[in-house]
Amino acid sequence: MSILLAVSYLGDWLDVLFRWFHVIVGVTWLGTSIYFVRLDNSLHPVAGDDSQSGSMTVGEHWGAHGGGFYHVTKYRRPPEPLPEPLHFATPWPAYSTWLTGFALLIVVYYANARTYLIDPSVADIAPGTAIALSAGLLVVGWFLYDLTCRLLGRWEWLVALAVVAMTAGAALLATSLFSPRAAFLQVGAMLGTFMAANVLTVIVPMHRKMVAARRAGTVPNPVDGARAKQRSVHNTYLTLPVLLAMLSNHASFIYGHSDGWLALLALMAIGALVRHGFIVYRQGAVPKLVPVVATLAVIGLVAWLAPAGSGGDSAAPTAAAAADGAGGGQPAAGTTDATNVASGAKIFQSAGCSGCHTLEAAGATGKAGPDLGRLHPPSSLVAEVVANGRGAMPPFKGRLDDDEIRAVAAYVASAAGAP
Ligand code: HEC
Repeated sequence: MSILLAVSYLGDWLDVLFRWFHVIVGVTWLGTSIYFVRLDNSLHPVAGDDSQSGSMTVGEHWGAHGGGFYHVTKYRRPPEPLPEPLHFATPWPAYSTWLTGFALLIVVYYANARTYLIDPSVADIAPGTAIALSAGLLVVGWFLYDLTCRLLGRWEWLVALAVVAMTAGAALLATSLFSPRAAFLQVGAMLGTFMAANVLTVIVPMHRKMVAARRAGTVPNPVDGARAKQRSVHNTYLTLPVLLAMLSNHASFIYGHSDGWLALLALMAIGALVRHGFIVYRQGAVPKLVPVVATLAVIGLVAWLAPAGSGGDSAAPTAAAAADGAGGGQPAAGTTDATNVASGAKIFQSAGCSGCHTLEAAGATGKAGPDLGRLHPPSSLVAEVVANGRGAMPPFKGRLDDDEIRAVAAYVASAAGAP
């Protein structure tokens, strides 16, 4: 195995392992978050609890799960004496979701910045600049959001409006700096950073402060609890939008659309709306309008993003478009194996490579995979990737025989002008 291949093979492993870990801790985190929000919204007043002025309890919840019955009571402040053991909701799923997510960003997008992060047709920037911009935007975004919460925290709707405006700004900025696929992820990573940083810098410290006050024999400040609660509510509304952005790199027809950033915003808004519906439902109301509006909005998006005609524009390469370009793959003059190259050109179309890859010489405009014309992969690499697949690209071993793989590899290398 060549060094090039070995590095890319190990990179693939890191990708799989970080992704796996990321999903596990993400599920744990969001599951806990959704559970506690549900708990909060289904509390009933504790019967006869008017013993103390200002009442200690917020409410109680009876639940059945796993063959038993649970009775949970929410207190405004840690009771006196402090119960032992007191189980803090562990923040580690949140932290590790962020850490593994950032690790993935590095392994996939930063390590292959030229392929995945940068799209010269969007912005022709150097890999170092692109990486600095991507990481910098996460930091700047968090400071802006945190400042907004601190300054405008009293007016919930103003904060909500500011977060929507920031997300729109980030989507517009990201789609004018990075490749569309990376841009979607960048917006998701920014909101995901808000969520994890909310846990780290507000929710956990506020809990600790309240417990410390109780330990010191003083009365914990309910404002601390309210601040933690505010960030926790934000996190709830962000869950579905962030998940959408994280999964979006499978949807090239959305991120590849010329107004992809608007589609992203619309989908995120639908996610937040659906989350809102569940919250309202848990509070005892039936949000009839939510499913109607969400369904109509999705139908509207389906219609809006539909590829125009059979010409197959950049958003959705069709078989017709691929066939149009079939004659375009002229083998470069002076290739050693002209027959291979010529039959490879046909395989490139018939095997569906052109549906996923852009390759100018073949008239291929697919967006799901990297632009092969820009990468100039050597034919050995192409053969390896085609045979075994890589990431979202399926393996072709079995579908193409060795000669065909060699031919398509020779063709791609020659059409892409491999060094
Ligand atoms: C379903 C979409 C899809 C199809 C079909 C497809 N590819 Fe890919 N291809 C991808 C994706 C996505 C990647 C990036 C994989 C990764 O690194 O995660 C990729 C990566 C590659 C690479 C590696 C580029 C590099 O240097 O990193 C080559 C070469 C390649 N494809 C060639 C082909 C050829 C030739 C065919 C046809 C036999 C083909 N692909 C068919 C989606 C596809």
